[in-house]
Amino acid sequence: MKDIDFTGKVAVVTGAASGMGLMTAQEFVRLGAKVVMCDLDEALLRQAVEKLRGGKVEKCMERVVACVGDVRDFAYAEAAAKAAAALGGCDILVTCAGGNEARCCKSNVPFYEQPVEVIDWGLDVNLKGAVYFARAMMPQMVAKKGGVICCLGSVTGFEGDGVGTMYGTAKSGLFNFVKGLALAGGPHNVRALCVTPGPVLTRAAMSGMPTALGRAAETHELVDVILFMCSDNASFVTGTNHVIDGGRLCMYQPYVAPKESAK
Ligand SMILES: NC(=O)c1ccc[n+]([C@@H]2O[C@H](COP(=O)([O-])OP(=O)(O)OC[C@H]3O[C@@H](n4cnc5c(N)ncnc54)[C@H](O)[C@@H]3O)[C@@H](O)[C@H]2O)c1
Repeated sequence: MKDIDFTGKVAVVTGAASGMGLMTAQEFVRLGAKVVMCDLDEALLRQAVEKLRGGKVEKCMERVVACVGDVRDFAYAEAAAKAAAALGGCDILVTCAGGNEARCCKSNVPFYEQPVEVIDWGLDVNLKGAVYFARAMMPQMVAKKGGVICCLGSVTGFEGDGVGTMYGTAKSGLFNFVKGLALAGGPHNVRALCVTPGPVLTRAAMSGMPTALGRAAETHELVDVILFMCSDNASFVTGTNHVIDGGRLCMYQPYVAPKESAK
């Protein structure tokens, strides 16, 4: 296997201010890429970018750009595409922005009682956000005759959730979305795929979710897979969904309505 090296590549990461998005962006920088870090949380994003610029990676000052906005807004995706174009054109897109609407909107009621704003949030952030960013970045990949789009799914896309119902609905939508992208992008050497986590310790609450391995993943256990999928080592991988869940989906899970909605 070739060493992973992203020198000369331009990567765009959404949800880059925390969790898997942040570590993915940090690793892209460490491995030589120029990175557009996108997130809604301006304070957290600025802090992450400053830390990267002041860190040990040499000459990264001009290789990291912060782009603040809401992935539900197509104009924001276009602004991020402009930032990527200024760095040389987008080669890699990783969509991490997302979350269970019941948790993120603090609305812990069954689907049939959810306010429509919460339903919209769940669908728009988790599905439309990825769609908008892919639509904005893909022309640059086609022009460059190559690229990768990696969307973060979730095992909830297989399992369902009676409270944060749009979260699983949107994530399963991404499983199909990457197939369409693979077909549209294939003739241009543009790949698209999902990396689909089980519980990941980006939040301590995830430690309680059952898996066959009896634990949740460390953040790097997902990020390592994302980096591999975005590298030339995965050059024949497209249109597919890669479940990295510690064997969670192998287990029989009787449905229990969550007290506090989990991802
Ligand atoms: N952590 C897990 O256990 C787990 C499990 C399965 C799937 N996932 C998925 O993996 C991805 C990353 O998860 P994580 O735990 O690292 O995330 P996280 O919660 O640590 O970070 C998500 C980031 O997305 C940003 N964000 C949220 N809404 C946004 C919007 N509208 N526009 C722009 N940015 C926005 C947040 O500010 C935050 O920085 C998510 O899509 C999540 O659904 C996570």
